[in-house]
Amino acid sequence: MLEIKNIYKSFGNLEVLKDISLSIGKREIVAIVGPSGAGKTTLLQIAGTLEKPDRGSLLFNGTELIGMKDKKLSAFRNKNIGFVFQFHQLLPEFTARENVALPALIAGISKKKAMEKASELLVQLGLADRMDHKPSAMSGGERQRTAIARALINDPEIIFADEPTGSLDSANREEIQKIFTDLRDKFGQTVVMVTHDSTLAGIADRVIEMADGRILPAITHDEGNIDDTECSLSIIDPLDAGGNGSEDFVGDGVEEVGESAD
Ligand SMILES: Nc1ncnc2c1ncn2[C@@H]1O[C@H](COP(=O)(O)OP(=O)(O)O)[C@@H](O)[C@H]1O
Ligand SMILES: [Mg+2]
Repeated sequence: MLEIKNIYKSFGNLEVLKDISLSIGKREIVAIVGPSGAGKTTLLQIAGTLEKPDRGSLLFNGTELIGMKDKKLSAFRNKNIGFVFQFHQLLPEFTARENVALPALIAGISKKKAMEKASELLVQLGLADRMDHKPSAMSGGERQRTAIARALINDPEIIFADEPTGSLDSANREEIQKIFTDLRDKFGQTVVMVTHDSTLAGIADRVIEMADGRILPAITHDEGNIDDTECSLSIIDPLDAGGNGSEDFVGDGVEEVGESAD
């Protein structure tokens, strides 16, 4: 559904993405891992149309997004793409429900409908009794679940998540991990996430490793396409993969995770 082809991006003299190509299939969870500075966030931002590449192609269900006019692109993004960031980026002066409803209001949905849909999503995400709280009155995990609800409100085709568990403790990380798994398995959602969290990467159908602006050769054992059956893929656990060139992934020092994997 998403074809990223031959993407290049520089910031000044710094070439951050060097000929990146990647296909994302429907109902697939793809995890992007790699050391800090590898270009993961830049790739995610380009794939999510928040940033423009210098060169390359981005085909979304066959439609070229590179070169699309800003206004059209914003509308496209609002309708088709959901984002979850490391820090929830909820608006502090609005309640959880209002924050979740916002992208629907921007899409032109009536306030009544948007608020109803927001409530439904918040209930599904276990936040029934938090809907009218402002972000400051919620825990980190609750805020991140609210951000996921916000990402889902316009029924996006794809969700991009940049370190979605990066600021959470292990109980909340497990919660988020379960939500992403359910999104794929129960709702057929496509997710691309950047993560240092090896347990979160463990739910992915495919793990893409990046270093120095490039995608490294595959580190999963899975070569084929992902179908919609629950498949147990043997993804190398980066925390156990010391000899497999994955040291950078653990050695990044952002957080120590994975000890509660089972
Ligand atoms: N807006 C920007 N302007 C200049 N340099 C940037 C910008 N965004 C990212 N970079 C640089 O690009 C490189 C890759 O950054 P990033 O994509 O954030 O990597 P990662 O998410 O893998 O840590 C880093 O060296 C970073 O400093
Ligand atoms: Mg990053």
